[in-house]
Amino acid sequence: MTVHSFQEHFDSKIDREVSIEPRDWMPDDYRKTLIRQISQHAHSEIIGMLPEGNWITRAPSLRRKAVLLAKVQDEAGHGLYLYSAAETLGITRDQMYDQLHSGKAKYSSIFNYPTLSWADMGAIGWLVDGAAIMNQVPLCRTSYGPYARAMVRVCKEESFHQRQGFEIMLSLSRGTEAQRKMAQEAFDRWWWPSLMMFGPPDAESPNTEQSVRWRIKRFTNDELRQKFVDVTTEQAKVLGLEMPDKDIKWNEERGHYDFGKIDWNEFWNVVKGNGPCNKQRIDARRNAWENGQWVRDAALAHAAKRKARTGETKAA
Ligand SMILES: [Fe+2]
Ligand SMILES: [Fe+2]
Repeated sequence: MTVHSFQEHFDSKIDREVSIEPRDWMPDDYRKTLIRQISQHAHSEIIGMLPEGNWITRAPSLRRKAVLLAKVQDEAGHGLYLYSAAETLGITRDQMYDQLHSGKAKYSSIFNYPTLSWADMGAIGWLVDGAAIMNQVPLCRTSYGPYARAMVRVCKEESFHQRQGFEIMLSLSRGTEAQRKMAQEAFDRWWWPSLMMFGPPDAESPNTEQSVRWRIKRFTNDELRQKFVDVTTEQAKVLGLEMPDKDIKWNEERGHYDFGKIDWNEFWNVVKGNGPCNKQRIDARRNAWENGQWVRDAALAHAAKRKARTGETKAA
Protein backbone atom coordinates (compact mmCIF):
# COMPACT_ATOMS: atom_id res chain seq x y z
CA MET A 1 0.00 0.00 0.00
CA THR A 2 1.14 3.54 -0.64
CA VAL A 3 1.17 6.07 2.21
CA HIS A 4 -1.88 7.59 0.59
CA SER A 5 -3.90 4.41 0.85
CA PHE A 6 -2.56 3.71 4.35
CA GLN A 7 -3.98 7.08 5.29
CA GLU A 8 -7.32 6.28 3.66
CA HIS A 9 -7.49 2.98 5.47
CA PHE A 10 -6.74 4.71 8.79
CA ASP A 11 -9.31 7.45 8.15
CA SER A 12 -11.99 4.95 7.29
CA LYS A 13 -11.33 3.01 10.50
CA ILE A 14 -11.67 6.20 12.51
CA ASP A 15 -14.93 7.00 10.70
CA ARG A 16 -16.32 3.53 11.30
CA GLU A 17 -15.29 3.62 14.98
CA VAL A 18 -12.97 0.64 14.49
CA SER A 19 -10.21 0.95 17.06
CA ILE A 20 -6.61 1.52 16.02
CA GLU A 21 -4.26 -1.17 17.36
CA PRO A 22 -0.48 -1.08 17.99
CA ARG A 23 0.48 -2.88 14.75
CA ASP A 24 -1.76 -0.74 12.54
CA TRP A 25 -0.34 2.01 10.39
CA MET A 26 -1.05 5.42 11.90
CA PRO A 27 -0.03 8.98 11.03
CA ASP A 28 3.08 10.19 12.90
CA ASP A 29 1.18 13.03 14.52
CA TYR A 30 -1.51 10.69 15.82
CA ARG A 31 1.20 8.54 17.41
CA LYS A 32 2.97 11.58 18.88
CA THR A 33 -0.25 13.07 20.24
CA LEU A 34 -1.14 9.79 21.92
CA ILE A 35 2.33 9.28 23.41
CA ARG A 36 2.14 12.78 24.84
CA GLN A 37 -1.38 12.39 26.19
CA ILE A 38 -1.04 8.86 27.61
CA SER A 39 2.34 9.48 29.23
CA GLN A 40 1.12 12.76 30.76
CA HIS A 41 -1.86 10.86 32.03
CA ALA A 42 0.38 8.12 33.52
CA HIS A 43 2.61 10.71 35.19
CA SER A 44 -0.46 12.41 36.66
CA GLU A 45 -1.58 9.15 38.24
CA ILE A 46 1.68 8.53 40.05
CA ILE A 47 2.35 12.17 40.99
CA GLY A 48 -1.26 12.20 42.20
CA MET A 49 -0.34 9.64 44.86
CA LEU A 50 1.83 12.19 46.65
CA PRO A 51 -0.65 14.77 48.01
CA GLU A 52 -2.87 12.01 49.40
CA GLY A 53 0.00 9.79 50.54
CA ASN A 54 0.75 12.71 52.83
CA TRP A 55 -2.36 11.84 54.91
CA ILE A 56 -2.24 8.05 55.14
CA THR A 57 -0.48 8.07 58.51
CA ARG A 58 -2.83 10.74 59.83
CA ALA A 59 -6.20 9.36 58.69
CA PRO A 60 -8.71 9.77 61.54
CA SER A 61 -9.74 6.09 61.84
CA LEU A 62 -8.62 2.63 60.79
CA ARG A 63 -11.44 2.50 58.23
CA ARG A 64 -10.43 5.83 56.69
CA LYS A 65 -6.82 4.72 56.59
CA ALA A 66 -7.64 1.43 54.84
CA VAL A 67 -9.82 3.21 52.27
CA LEU A 68 -7.24 5.92 51.56
CA LEU A 69 -4.47 3.37 51.28
CA ALA A 70 -6.50 1.36 48.76
CA LYS A 71 -7.26 4.51 46.80
CA VAL A 72 -3.64 5.61 46.59
CA GLN A 73 -2.61 2.10 45.52
CA ASP A 74 -5.25 2.22 42.77
CA GLU A 75 -3.56 5.36 41.42
CA ALA A 76 -0.27 3.47 41.18
CA GLY A 77 -2.10 0.78 39.23
CA HIS A 78 -3.57 3.39 36.88
CA GLY A 79 -0.09 4.71 36.24
CA LEU A 80 1.10 1.22 35.36
CA TYR A 81 -1.75 0.43 32.93
CA LEU A 82 -1.15 3.73 31.21
CA TYR A 83 2.62 3.39 30.96
CA SER A 84 2.00 -0.03 29.40
CA ALA A 85 -0.49 1.46 26.93
CA ALA A 86 2.03 4.18 25.96
CA GLU A 87 4.77 1.56 25.48
CA THR A 88 2.72 -0.04 22.69
CA LEU A 89 3.33 3.15 20.70
CA GLY A 90 7.11 2.70 20.70
CA ILE A 91 8.34 4.68 23.69
CA THR A 92 10.06 2.94 26.61
CA ARG A 93 9.18 3.33 30.25
CA ASP A 94 12.68 4.58 30.99
CA GLN A 95 12.26 7.31 28.39
CA MET A 96 8.98 8.38 29.95
CA TYR A 97 10.43 8.41 33.48
CA ASP A 98 13.36 10.39 32.18
CA GLN A 99 11.01 12.99 30.66
CA LEU A 100 9.19 13.26 33.99
CA HIS A 101 12.30 13.51 36.15
CA SER A 102 13.98 16.03 33.86
CA GLY A 103 10.90 18.25 33.95
CA LYS A 104 10.31 17.85 30.20
CA ALA A 105 7.00 16.04 30.59
CA LYS A 106 3.90 17.62 32.03
CA TYR A 107 1.39 16.14 34.45
CA SER A 108 -1.89 17.46 35.77
CA SER A 109 -1.26 20.75 37.57
CA ILE A 110 -3.82 19.97 40.26
CA PHE A 111 -1.23 17.85 42.06
CA ASN A 112 1.01 20.86 42.60
CA TYR A 113 -1.32 22.12 45.33
CA PRO A 114 -0.71 21.18 48.97
CA THR A 115 -3.04 19.07 51.14
CA LEU A 116 -3.44 21.13 54.30
CA SER A 117 -6.18 19.33 56.23
CA TRP A 118 -7.94 15.98 56.41
CA ALA A 119 -10.88 17.55 54.59
CA ASP A 120 -8.62 17.85 51.56
CA MET A 121 -8.86 14.06 51.20
CA GLY A 122 -12.60 14.55 50.88
CA ALA A 123 -12.35 17.47 48.49
CA ILE A 124 -9.79 15.68 46.29
CA GLY A 125 -11.87 12.52 46.00
CA TRP A 126 -15.06 14.43 45.37
CA LEU A 127 -13.73 17.14 43.04
CA VAL A 128 -10.42 15.97 41.58
CA ASP A 129 -11.41 12.35 41.00
CA GLY A 130 -14.85 13.67 40.00
CA ALA A 131 -13.27 15.87 37.32
CA ALA A 132 -11.03 12.97 36.30
CA ILE A 133 -14.13 10.81 35.70
CA MET A 134 -15.70 13.49 33.48
CA ASN A 135 -12.52 13.61 31.46
CA GLN A 136 -11.97 9.88 31.38
CA VAL A 137 -15.34 8.25 30.76
CA PRO A 138 -15.32 9.45 27.12
CA LEU A 139 -11.78 8.02 26.82
CA CYS A 140 -13.20 4.51 27.24
CA ARG A 141 -14.27 5.01 23.59
CA THR A 142 -11.13 6.73 22.43
CA SER A 143 -9.86 5.55 19.04
CA TYR A 144 -6.63 3.92 20.24
CA GLY A 145 -7.48 0.41 21.51
CA PRO A 146 -4.94 -0.09 24.35
CA TYR A 147 -5.73 3.35 25.80
CA ALA A 148 -9.49 2.77 25.63
CA ARG A 149 -9.22 -0.64 27.32
CA ALA A 150 -7.01 0.69 30.13
CA MET A 151 -9.55 3.44 30.75
CA VAL A 152 -12.43 1.04 31.32
CA ARG A 153 -10.86 -0.32 34.50
CA VAL A 154 -9.47 3.07 35.53
CA CYS A 155 -12.96 4.59 35.37
CA LYS A 156 -14.50 1.88 37.53
CA GLU A 157 -11.93 2.60 40.20
CA GLU A 158 -12.27 6.38 39.83
CA SER A 159 -15.94 6.17 40.64
CA PHE A 160 -15.07 4.49 43.95
CA HIS A 161 -12.57 7.30 44.58
CA GLN A 162 -15.17 9.94 43.93
CA ARG A 163 -17.63 8.28 46.31
CA GLN A 164 -15.13 7.89 49.12
CA GLY A 165 -14.30 11.60 48.81
CA PHE A 166 -17.94 12.61 48.79
CA GLU A 167 -18.56 10.44 51.84
CA ILE A 168 -15.75 12.16 53.75
CA MET A 169 -17.25 15.54 52.82
CA LEU A 170 -20.70 14.38 53.89
CA SER A 171 -19.47 13.18 57.31
CA LEU A 172 -17.59 16.42 57.89
CA SER A 173 -20.40 18.67 56.73
CA ARG A 174 -22.80 16.89 59.09
CA GLY A 175 -20.29 16.92 61.93
CA THR A 176 -19.30 19.61 64.40
CA GLU A 177 -19.06 23.26 63.43
CA ALA A 178 -15.27 22.94 63.21
CA GLN A 179 -15.60 19.94 60.88
CA ARG A 180 -18.12 21.72 58.66
CA LYS A 181 -15.79 24.69 58.46
CA MET A 182 -12.87 22.44 57.54
CA ALA A 183 -14.96 20.91 54.71
CA GLN A 184 -15.98 24.35 53.43
CA GLU A 185 -12.37 25.58 53.44
CA ALA A 186 -11.22 22.51 51.53
CA PHE A 187 -14.03 23.06 49.00
CA ASP A 188 -12.99 26.71 48.64
CA ARG A 189 -9.37 25.77 48.01
CA TRP A 190 -9.95 22.93 45.53
CA TRP A 191 -12.84 24.32 43.51
CA TRP A 192 -11.00 26.58 41.08
CA PRO A 193 -8.02 24.29 40.52
CA SER A 194 -10.52 21.49 39.75
CA LEU A 195 -12.13 23.60 37.03
CA MET A 196 -8.67 24.18 35.57
CA MET A 197 -8.19 20.41 35.27
CA PHE A 198 -10.21 20.45 32.04
CA GLY A 199 -7.48 22.50 30.41
CA PRO A 200 -7.49 25.92 28.76
CA PRO A 201 -10.63 27.32 27.11
CA ASP A 202 -11.40 25.81 23.70
CA ALA A 203 -10.38 29.01 21.94
CA GLU A 204 -6.87 28.64 23.38
CA SER A 205 -6.52 24.89 23.07
CA PRO A 206 -4.74 24.33 19.76
CA ASN A 207 -4.74 20.51 19.90
CA THR A 208 -8.43 20.02 20.65
CA GLU A 209 -9.79 20.22 17.11
CA GLN A 210 -7.41 17.62 15.68
CA SER A 211 -7.89 15.33 18.69
CA VAL A 212 -11.67 15.47 18.28
CA ARG A 213 -11.28 14.67 14.57
CA TRP A 214 -9.12 11.64 15.41
CA ARG A 215 -11.68 10.65 18.03
CA ILE A 216 -9.02 10.69 20.72
CA LYS A 217 -11.14 13.33 22.43
CA ARG A 218 -14.91 13.14 22.32
CA PHE A 219 -15.79 16.44 23.98
CA THR A 220 -13.98 19.76 24.20
CA ASN A 221 -12.49 21.18 27.41
CA ASP A 222 -15.30 23.71 27.83
CA GLU A 223 -18.03 21.14 27.29
CA LEU A 224 -16.61 18.87 29.98
CA ARG A 225 -16.00 21.77 32.36
CA GLN A 226 -19.63 22.85 32.03
CA LYS A 227 -20.84 19.34 32.73
CA PHE A 228 -18.67 19.22 35.85
CA VAL A 229 -20.00 22.56 37.12
CA ASP A 230 -23.61 21.42 36.57
CA VAL A 231 -23.16 18.13 38.42
CA THR A 232 -21.00 19.44 41.26
CA THR A 233 -23.22 22.43 42.04
CA GLU A 234 -26.10 20.03 42.71
CA GLN A 235 -23.87 17.81 44.87
CA ALA A 236 -22.75 20.82 46.94
CA LYS A 237 -26.43 21.40 47.81
CA VAL A 238 -26.65 17.88 49.21
CA LEU A 239 -23.56 18.59 51.30
CA GLY A 240 -25.03 21.90 52.45
CA LEU A 241 -21.82 23.69 51.49
CA GLU A 242 -21.61 27.08 49.86
CA MET A 243 -20.30 27.34 46.31
CA PRO A 244 -16.88 29.02 46.36
CA ASP A 245 -17.96 30.98 43.26
CA LYS A 246 -20.48 33.72 44.00
CA ASP A 247 -21.36 34.03 40.30
CA ILE A 248 -22.79 30.53 39.98
CA LYS A 249 -26.32 30.91 38.68
CA TRP A 250 -28.75 28.63 36.88
CA ASN A 251 -29.31 29.81 33.33
CA GLU A 252 -32.76 28.68 32.24
CA GLU A 253 -32.15 29.44 28.60
CA ARG A 254 -28.91 27.47 28.33
CA GLY A 255 -30.05 24.73 30.69
CA HIS A 256 -26.70 25.05 32.48
CA TYR A 257 -25.14 26.86 35.41
CA ASP A 258 -23.29 30.06 34.51
CA PHE A 259 -20.10 30.45 36.48
CA GLY A 260 -17.43 33.03 37.29
CA LYS A 261 -14.14 33.78 35.59
CA ILE A 262 -11.30 31.30 35.98
CA ASP A 263 -7.92 32.81 36.81
CA TRP A 264 -5.96 31.48 33.84
CA ASN A 265 -2.84 33.34 34.98
CA GLU A 266 -2.75 31.08 37.99
CA PHE A 267 -3.19 28.05 35.75
CA TRP A 268 -0.33 28.96 33.40
CA ASN A 269 1.87 29.89 36.31
CA VAL A 270 1.45 26.43 37.85
CA VAL A 271 1.92 24.75 34.44
CA LYS A 272 5.21 26.64 34.06
CA GLY A 273 6.46 25.13 37.30
CA ASN A 274 5.69 27.90 39.78
CA GLY A 275 2.87 26.25 41.71
CA PRO A 276 3.13 25.79 45.47
CA CYS A 277 4.46 22.19 45.26
CA ASN A 278 5.94 21.64 41.77
CA LYS A 279 9.49 21.28 43.04
CA GLN A 280 8.52 19.11 45.99
CA ARG A 281 6.58 16.69 43.73
CA ILE A 282 9.36 16.21 41.19
CA ASP A 283 11.96 15.88 43.95
CA ALA A 284 9.86 13.15 45.58
CA ARG A 285 9.66 11.22 42.28
CA ARG A 286 13.37 11.64 41.58
CA ASN A 287 14.31 10.48 45.07
CA ALA A 288 12.02 7.47 44.76
CA TRP A 289 13.70 6.60 41.46
CA GLU A 290 17.22 6.97 42.85
CA ASN A 291 16.47 5.17 46.11
CA GLY A 292 14.92 2.30 44.15
CA GLN A 293 18.03 1.76 42.02
CA TRP A 294 19.23 -1.12 44.23
CA VAL A 295 15.90 -2.92 43.77
CA ARG A 296 16.19 -2.71 39.98
CA ASP A 297 19.84 -3.82 40.13
CA ALA A 298 18.96 -6.73 42.40
CA ALA A 299 16.07 -7.82 40.17
CA LEU A 300 18.31 -7.77 37.09
CA ALA A 301 21.10 -9.66 38.89
CA HIS A 302 18.59 -12.25 40.09
CA ALA A 303 17.18 -12.69 36.59
CA ALA A 304 20.70 -13.09 35.15
CA LYS A 305 21.63 -15.70 37.78
CA ARG A 306 18.45 -17.67 37.17
CA LYS A 307 19.05 -17.61 33.46
CA ALA A 308 22.60 -18.84 33.94
CA ARG A 309 21.39 -21.62 36.25
CA THR A 310 18.58 -22.86 33.97
CA GLY A 311 21.05 -22.63 31.09
CA GLU A 312 23.37 -24.96 33.05
CA THR A 313 20.61 -27.48 33.87
CA LYS A 314 19.56 -27.57 30.25
CA ALA A 315 23.15 -28.11 29.14
CA ALA A 316 23.51 -30.94 31.67
FE1 LIG B 1 -6.49 7.46 38.83
FE1 LIG C 1 -8.52 8.41 41.39
